[in-house]
Amino acid sequence: MHNDIELKFKFNNSNFLKSKKILKKYPKKFSESAILPLLHLAQEQLDGWLKKPAIEYISKYLKVPLIKVYEVASFYHMFNLKKVGKHCISVCTTTPCCLKGSDAILKKFEQNLNIKNGKITKDGVFSLHEIECLGACINAPVIKINNNYYENLKLDDIKKIVKNLKK
Ligand code: FES
Repeated sequence: MHNDIELKFKFNNSNFLKSKKILKKYPKKFSESAILPLLHLAQEQLDGWLKKPAIEYISKYLKVPLIKVYEVASFYHMFNLKKVGKHCISVCTTTPCCLKGSDAILKKFEQNLNIKNGKITKDGVFSLHEIECLGACINAPVIKINNNYYENLKLDDIKKIVKNLKK
């Protein structure tokens, strides 16, 4: 299946082996259930974002319509359809976080990184994104940087976080 696909993206050997293990978890006729984990795998391989060829690849790999893969990739905010920075900063601005000051947090990151929401720094090290609920509302305000959560965030924490990530 792997070698038949002539596209601009394909899983590297290690991810190809992982993808085979993932597929074994699902009955053959429900292989589209593997869309989510395979998108995660592709995004990991592509430094945090899903290029269109990766979505096409997964569609062909699983033999499911492209629109189905695209629907999943575009629905969940953990998938990035545009290039992101090495450190992808996501600031939750949904109501509980908003009530605990997420707007000020977003603004502080904008000032600190000298970029607007949705942009990447010129050196490609940081990108900043407003995001919907991260599911940790009890510890609002919450941000996520790549796969790490920062909870009960204070405005004063931001400078230190950015400084540590620059090291
Ligand atoms: S509202 Fe921010 S984590 Fe839920």
